[in-house]
Amino acid sequence: MSYAPNVPDHIAGLKAYVPGLPIEDLARRLAMPVEKIAKLASNENPLGASELALAAMREAAIDPSLYPDNDCTLLLDALSEALNVAPGQIVIGAGSESVLGIAAAAFLSAERSAVYTQYSFQAFVNAVQRVGAEAIEVPSPNFTVSTSALLDAIRPNTSMIYLANPGNPTGTRLPQQEIADFMARVPAQIVVVLDEAYFEYVPQDDGPTSLELVERYPNLIVTRTFSKAYGLAGLRVGYGVAQPAVIAMLRRLRAPFSVTAMAQAAAIAALSDTEFLDRTVSVNELGLKQLYAGFDELGLRYVRSFANFVLVDVGNGAAMAKQLEQHGLIVRPVGGYGLPAWLRTSVGSEQNNERLLRALQVEVSLVHD
Ligand SMILES: Cc1ncc(COP(=O)(O)O)c(C=O)c1O
Repeated sequence: MSYAPNVPDHIAGLKAYVPGLPIEDLARRLAMPVEKIAKLASNENPLGASELALAAMREAAIDPSLYPDNDCTLLLDALSEALNVAPGQIVIGAGSESVLGIAAAAFLSAERSAVYTQYSFQAFVNAVQRVGAEAIEVPSPNFTVSTSALLDAIRPNTSMIYLANPGNPTGTRLPQQEIADFMARVPAQIVVVLDEAYFEYVPQDDGPTSLELVERYPNLIVTRTFSKAYGLAGLRVGYGVAQPAVIAMLRRLRAPFSVTAMAQAAAIAALSDTEFLDRTVSVNELGLKQLYAGFDELGLRYVRSFANFVLVDVGNGAAMAKQLEQHGLIVRPVGGYGLPAWLRTSVGSEQNNERLLRALQVEVSLVHD
């Protein structure tokens, strides 16, 4: 008889996070060298990482015998300077996903509920369920977020709202003024976790910045990451910004030593490499245009994105993803988000975007023949 671990129901009901297919897995199956596989499934940076970050990482790797600085002192200083907030307003974690998780651990419990939108990033869903809290999902018609619907969904036991701007997998965003108006209406006892994993790709608009809103609202936590525009997804480093009392609470929930010495060193160097960041953003802009033009030509419907990925309607996302694997391309089916017709593709290098468009052309014409 198989052993059923004696865990609470909310843990037994947890779904495993489904990541993009690993390159090594497909390479083995197709007997193809890994270099030939293009992974467009996890919104990684097609330029790789900054040379400065790579050099810092190598330097930090020379002696791995010591534990890393648990307080991430130098990275806090660098972020404090770059963001113009006090070091005591920042918590650093092993990826921003870990900060999303400790926020749930801090503010939720089995008696409380959290509100988020339909098509929300899976990590929100998982973080809420892990702590046994109730999830309230708000519909997201046409992939947009209605802040009034989020507010209307609040119940007496709601203590947290998760909102990604831009959203994943939608790529849509709310203007900053709307975020500001939303914050003005959120009851003070409810914490808003504003996930800005794709912040660097979004052009500045006229509204107040999220960090300005942090100064105004003690119930706001903004999270960002080094995984996307900074190209350090493999190192796992991200952070949250909030007022000091909230940060002090979140820091107590961090897993000790979870941000490695290499990650800290690379993140500090990456912050200083503004040229790399600028190049990343312009390559992404060009890539989005390239993909839109290609999708238009193929007659495929897509959602205009403010991030480094696009949602495209291919009729049957899971089947198309399987077909694309035969072309050495890994994209992300999004059936798990309730979008079985769609695929999410990262914006890749010009060459890989072209490969994807050509492969789609072959596969789409096969379906229609
Ligand atoms: C909306 C959103 N938030 C957070 C993350 C987590 O990123 P990381 O844990 O690598 O910082 C991702 C990654 O895909 C994301 O799409």
